[in-house]
Amino acid sequence: MDRTVHPDIAYVLLEHERIQQRVQALADEITRDYANTQDLLLVGVLKGSVMFMVDMARSLQRHVALDFIAISSYGQSTQTSGVVRLLKDLDTDIGGRHVLIVEDIVDSGLTLAYLRESFQRRNPASLRICALLSKPERRQADVTVDYTGFDIPNEFVVGYGLDFAERYRNLPYIGVLRPAVYTQNAES
Ligand code: IMP
Ligand code: MG
Repeated sequence: MDRTVHPDIAYVLLEHERIQQRVQALADEITRDYANTQDLLLVGVLKGSVMFMVDMARSLQRHVALDFIAISSYGQSTQTSGVVRLLKDLDTDIGGRHVLIVEDIVDSGLTLAYLRESFQRRNPASLRICALLSKPERRQADVTVDYTGFDIPNEFVVGYGLDFAERYRNLPYIGVLRPAVYTQNAES
C-alpha cells in the first residue's frame, strides 16, 4: 500500500511492516520466557504505548491481563523535565503478580527508573520492562530494559502512538519530526 507521508515528517524511520515484524518477534520471545508462569499482567504506559500494547497483546500466544497507568513528564516540550506526575494509577493490586511494563520509548530513562522503583515497592512476583524504542545516547538514569524493539538515533520521533503536543499518534509508521515543527510551536 502506498501511503503519503505526512508533510511534517522529515523521513520515515520505521515502516509499519517493520514494526509489526519486530513486535511479533518480541511477543514470541515473551511468550517463551513466561511459558512457566500462569500469570502475566501487561501494564501499558498511556498514551504513547497504546498501539504497541494492543499489537503486543494480540501477538502473545498465552493468557494475559491488561492494565494501564498514565503519567506525564513532558508537557509540550521535547525535553524531559525529569519530574514524573502520576495521572492515573493501576486498577489492580500488583502484589505477587508477574508484571511487564510496556512503554513506547526510553529516552533519558528517568520515567522508567521512577516507575520501576514505584512498582517494586508494591512487591510484584516479578517486574520486567519492554520498550518499543530506545535512544541509548540520551540515557541519564541507569534502568534495565528487558525487551527492546529498536535502538534509534537521537532524533525526536512521532507516530505509532508517539506524539508531539498530542499530534501524530495515529500515523502507522514512526518518523522523524521536522525540527521546524517544534521550534515554531515553542515560540508561539
Ligand atoms: P524519559 O523519561 O526521558 O525516558 O522519557 C520517556 C518519555 O518521553 C516517553 O515515554 C515518551 O512519552 C517521551 N519521549 C521521549 N522521546 C520521545 C520522542 O522522540 N518522541 C515522542 N515522545 C518521546
Ligand atoms: Mg511514554
